[in-house]
Amino acid sequence: MLAAGQSLAQGTPMDVKKTNGCGCCLAWMERMEESGFAPEGDDMFAGLLVRYKLDMGVPPKMVSCHTAVVEGYVIEGHVPAADIRKLLDERPDAVGLAVPGMPIGSPGMDFGDGREAFDVFLIGRDGATEVFSSYPGN
Ligand code: CU
Ligand code: CU
Repeated sequence: MLAAGQSLAQGTPMDVKKTNGCGCCLAWMERMEESGFAPEGDDMFAGLLVRYKLDMGVPPKMVSCHTAVVEGYVIEGHVPAADIRKLLDERPDAVGLAVPGMPIGSPGMDFGDGREAFDVFLIGRDGATEVFSSYPGN
């Protein structure tokens, strides 16, 4: 029998910090759920969320709307599930991944057929970033 508060959802736990009323954060969490993650959302005031991001090692130029933590890695913004899986497979010594801004067509920002080209960045422990994967526009 499950204890109170335990979830029946089978999936990789994912802690998501976001602001109240941000629909694209919820849409991204739905995409993650479809891809085998078990996201738990937590609303924060915008100013505190920015502080949290920086404290977690997200460089200012990498900032997006929500910040997730999965198996100790930080996932900033609308990062595709496939990249998170690749990160968890490869387990580099790094802070995590980021998709800065909110590119149209990224998961949770996919409202139509249009897609902007965007990159997923790997954030190093020294704050340096490198391209982890690239998605073409259409
Ligand atoms: Cu967003
Ligand atoms: Cu968001």
